Amino acid sequence: MPTPYDRIGGEPTIAAIANRFYDLIGQDPAYAGLRALHAADLAPVRHGLARFLAGWAGGPRDWFERGQCVMSLHRAFPITPALADQWASAMTRAIAAQPGLDPQLAHAMSDALGHMARGMINLSLEQSAA
Ligand code: HEM
Repeated sequence: MPTPYDRIGGEPTIAAIANRFYDLIGQDPAYAGLRALHAADLAPVRHGLARFLAGWAGGPRDWFERGQCVMSLHRAFPITPALADQWASAMTRAIAAQPGLDPQLAHAMSDALGHMARGMINLSLEQSAA
């Protein structure tokens, strides 16, 4: 069975989606809160996200072979429902803008990643307002 990684076109597609995601985070004021949490230089995290997505989609697993857990990694950041929505929105747009993707697969990927983003919420609205 071809993996989602194979079906979407492998490395070039994964890199394009990861870069488009961080372009959106850097350019669209709707994602200012998310951008503010990231380092000034986005180059390392562009690479990190691409390697994560490659392994997650059934491609090379070098990101996971480093023994990292994406959920634990994010416990260090104050993630509110609003930030999770920003992340999910930007990822949905980054995937939707990729030419030639099977719409059903694109939708399933955005859904699953959005679900993961909401699973990272560790700060309620009240706590973030306090
Ligand atoms: C829920 C909202 C999220 C916020 C606020 C957030 C925030 C961050 C921040 C601040 C970093 C470190 C960046 C830096 O050092 O500049 C990071 C790294 C990263 N995030 Fe997230 N993130 C979110 C959701 C996600 C989700 C859902 C995924 C994957 C499904 C993800 C995957 C990654 C990866 C792979 C890295 C880089 C790790 C590496 O160094 O290889 N993030 N994130």
